[in-house]
Amino acid sequence: MAEMINIALPKGRLGKAAYKLLEKSGYDCPTAMEDGRKLVFENKEKKVRYFWVKPSDVAIYVERGAADVGIVGKDILMEYQPDIYELMDLGLGKCKVAVAGKKGTFYPKERTLKVATKFGNIAREYYRSKGVEADIIHLNGSIELAPILGLSDVIVDIVETGTTLRENNLEVLSEVAGVSARLVANKAIYQFKREQIETMVKELGNFVEV
Ligand code: PRP
Repeated sequence: MAEMINIALPKGRLGKAAYKLLEKSGYDCPTAMEDGRKLVFENKEKKVRYFWVKPSDVAIYVERGAADVGIVGKDILMEYQPDIYELMDLGLGKCKVAVAGKKGTFYPKERTLKVATKFGNIAREYYRSKGVEADIIHLNGSIELAPILGLSDVIVDIVETGTTLRENNLEVLSEVAGVSARLVANKAIYQFKREQIETMVKELGNFVEV
């Protein structure tokens, strides 16, 4: 008898889109989309159990085996490098990690570049690869405020539609990486539930447009 598959979904727009894809692929659990404060939902017949977690926590649940599989942005995988399998690109939540700043910003020559970001590792690695000395200032949100208030010269952040940058008179200065949502799996659990997880990958593959 097949066991339940435990799936960590990121709360928010990306998670809802990912759930819709899973639903189309035969892993429906209608209660999962109900409004409310409940966090765990299951459909015994389809052998799926969903958890809604903070997007940046999905990889932690999967890495530690609290969830078998999960949906997570490539940006989070690049930043935290969790020890998990990246099984497929779901083609959802396409955006980019970019360097942005005030229009016409150029790199200061006489001092270290100040970079505000919630992606400290991505930013550090990016500037290391360019041979630029950078002072990374870690923020948790509203990153765009940093160059406006002079806290930093530039930011490294997610740009999706570009609206946030435009509305704050900022612009993309360079692109760091393209990102999208990935299906990931816990390494040990993947061995135990290989058949079930591979079936899921195949079924999702019928609906994914990368
Ligand atoms: C993200 C990101 C940008 C914005 C980009 O923020 O940090 O601020 O979305 O999207 P856009 O290009 O479509 O405007 P999020 O909404 O996650 O909130 P945060 O500021 O708390 O990080």
